[in-house]
Amino acid sequence: MSLAVMRDNGLHVEGVALADIAARFGTPCYVYSRAALTKAYAAYRDALQANGVADRSLICYAVKANSNLAILNLFAGLGAGFDIVSGGELARVFAAGGVAEKIVFSGVGKSRAEMRAALEAGIHCFNVESASELEQLNEVAGSLGRRAPVSLRVNPDVDARTHPYIATGLKTAKFGVAFGDAFELYRRAAVLPSIAVTGIDCHIGSQLLDPAPAAEAADKVLALVDQLAATGIALEHIDLGGGLGIQYRADEPAPAPADYLAPMLAKLSTRRERLVFEPGRSLVGNAGLLLTRVEVLKPGEDKHFAVVDAAMNDLMRPALYDAWHDIVPVAGASQGAKAGAGETATGAPMNYEIVGPVCESGDFLGHDRQLALRKAICSPSFRQAPTACRWPPTTTLGHAPRKSWSTAMPRT
Ligand SMILES: Cc1ncc(COP(=O)(O)O)c(C=O)c1O
Repeated sequence: MSLAVMRDNGLHVEGVALADIAARFGTPCYVYSRAALTKAYAAYRDALQANGVADRSLICYAVKANSNLAILNLFAGLGAGFDIVSGGELARVFAAGGVAEKIVFSGVGKSRAEMRAALEAGIHCFNVESASELEQLNEVAGSLGRRAPVSLRVNPDVDARTHPYIATGLKTAKFGVAFGDAFELYRRAAVLPSIAVTGIDCHIGSQLLDPAPAAEAADKVLALVDQLAATGIALEHIDLGGGLGIQYRADEPAPAPADYLAPMLAKLSTRRERLVFEPGRSLVGNAGLLLTRVEVLKPGEDKHFAVVDAAMNDLMRPALYDAWHDIVPVAGASQGAKAGAGETATGAPMNYEIVGPVCESGDFLGHDRQLALRKAICSPSFRQAPTACRWPPTTTLGHAPRKSWSTAMPRT
């Protein structure tokens, strides 16, 4: 776990003891590192700079990865744009200081109200995902006396080789306009009175560890851009989505943004269009963790359970994708063995099911984890025994964190 550093008195992030955060703010609690978020953003910016395309590129953070206002505020301050999928995300971006001209609006089911709000705000572009959305957007924009800037999100039918729930670029997926239909739909868009065709967009999936599928998709997109240009439809920008994965397990390294983007940028660096990227997970996934506290230790005949106070609603990836997150005790060597009133002393490591309190058998954070745990008292005392695990990066469903603490929080 590179974000948190183990010292004698427990895990620390940016020099702050996680036990102190748990004592002050309670648990469950999301903890984010301003330094790690900034570093992740800089890795993208540096890769674009090294390829000579930074001044015509926009990094639009995919808000669905984590819509915490402090995180949005930090990225806005670094110059990022935002990729949103709802009116709620639009409102959050504005609340956090984001600007309309740097917002792209993705998503297969934009409502008329959401279209209106984004048009009135003057966003950079709608990433339109179907013929019917295009017609509806034309109507809504017309009713407001505006022209909607539009990219078609094309579905290139490329296998991203990732979990089926987060693969979006195959023709069986609900996302985007089928590649074979895109040319004709562009021709239709070009004659609609309240649509301004400005770009093209493609996002083939998430947690991609191999750059090859994204490069293959880029080839298809560029061929279409050139075909459109030949018929007089000149696009101003090319948006190649997000997708870069992160490391969850020690033996599954993820490429750095520079390495992931290299094959794509090799194709793009000599072109004239502006470039948009929509990274989400790779900007935030390894920049935070979820602090939770062991409420109950429940030995069983077949399995031992550690019931913690964070649940599937706080960290949904295990329940949703059977995803694996690192789970480590917060206490350091000097705190491990001593128990206070109401606590159980740390024993030898045992195999635990780490589960939440929700009445669902799918409410788990990790299976079969060898951990030395102790039950903590329930008062918000300093002597707690929370465990720590990585914050879930990409989820497509938003939920309000019950508590969060971040070095990215504006300090007022
Ligand atoms: C349209 C779109 N853009 C960007 C992203 C962000 O992808 P990632 O978090 O893998 O970078 C997603 C993720 O689902 C998406 O659907």
